[in-house]
Formats: sequence, C-alpha cells, structure tokens
Amino acid sequence: MAYTIEQVKALVREFVDFPSKGIVFRDIFPIFREPAAVECLVSHFVERIQATGQQIDVVVGLDARGFLLGPLIALRLGVSFAPVRKGGKLPGSVAQVTYEKEYGADVFEMEADSLTKGQRVVIVDDLLATGGSCGAAEELVRKLGGVVVLDAFIIRLAELNGDKRLEAPVYALIDC
Ligand code: PRP
Ligand code: ADE
Repeated sequence: MAYTIEQVKALVREFVDFPSKGIVFRDIFPIFREPAAVECLVSHFVERIQATGQQIDVVVGLDARGFLLGPLIALRLGVSFAPVRKGGKLPGSVAQVTYEKEYGADVFEMEADSLTKGQRVVIVDDLLATGGSCGAAEELVRKLGGVVVLDAFIIRLAELNGDKRLEAPVYALIDC
C-alpha cells in the first residue's frame, strides 16, 4: 500500500504521563514499521528541503531519533550525514555544548572533522519541544564553521515556542 502524508501523520501515537507526569509523549516508531510510510515521509522531507532552493552539503541528525530519518534524507539528497551525539560517545576531537531539554540537562557533541567551514546544513530530528536540543545542535554546527539552512522535524510542540530559540527557519510536518 502506498501512503499519503496524512496517513503517515496518523501513525504517530500519544502516551500521556510518559516518561513523567504531565508529559504527552509522541511516539514516531509506528511509522518505521511500515516501509511505504517511511518512503512517503522521506520523500516529503526531501521535497521540502529542495523547495528551499538552497544548496545542501550535510544532513545533521540528533541523537537518538534524528538518526532514523537523517541518514535516509541524506542518502536521497546525495549528501553527507553527520551525527550530533550525547556527551562522551564520540572518539577523537569533538565540539561540545551543554543544553536544557523539556525534562533535564544534557551535553551534545560533534566530531570536529564532521563538517568543513562554510558547509550548508539541514538539521533533522523527530520532535521540537523547548528547542534546547536543536539550539545546541545549531551552536555546534556554527562552532565547526557550518551554516544551518533549515531545521526539520516530524513534530513541533507549538505551545513550547521552541522556534524562538532557533536561528534557522523551521519546518515541521505535524504541529501539536
Ligand atoms: C527528544 C527528542 C528531541 C528533543 C526535543 O530527545 O527526540 O531530540 O527531546 O526536546 P527539546 O526541543 O526540548 O530539546 P531526547 O533528548 O529525549 O533523547 P532520545 O532521542 O535519546 O530519546
Ligand atoms: N522529547 C521531548 N518532549 C517529547 C515529547 N513530548 N514526546 C516525544 N519526545 C519528546
């Protein structure tokens, strides 16, 4: 079965009070059970990125759920993929930023040679909440000399105003 983007959106599930009371957790994994849904989702993001009309050199994905979609988009665009990982996971020389999330503080790192100066980047993640994670990723890209062209998400929790913490334009498939 071929999926429409509306059918893909309908696969996202909500879990109330997970991982702690007061959080409505949005689960994207059901999308990845259906290859045709993944195909539709990846094509949708590739079209949105191409619609910016901008040259893209690298897709940057955020640990962990940005690793699901980011490499697939990079492959389709024919560009590099570079991971932003939680602190202490990457070898060699790294750039590091500490940031606040919806539920706690964390450290993000990138390998120092994962970008070259002036490269144009799309950051990909499953969800934009407070914008702490993506804001830290933008800062890492800038530290390595890259330019963020677009921040792309499956889901944006609009009432948390994460966009305000971000410098690049934001695209989200689903606004909650
Ligand atoms: C989640 C989500 C985003 C981030 C969004 O990741 O996947 O990366 O939080 O929140 P923010 O906009 O408030 O920063 P999390 O840090 O929970 O890690 P995980 O992907 O390993 O579950
Ligand atoms: N990461 C931060 N907030 C989240 C939420 N409400 N659902 C899923 N992942 C999240």
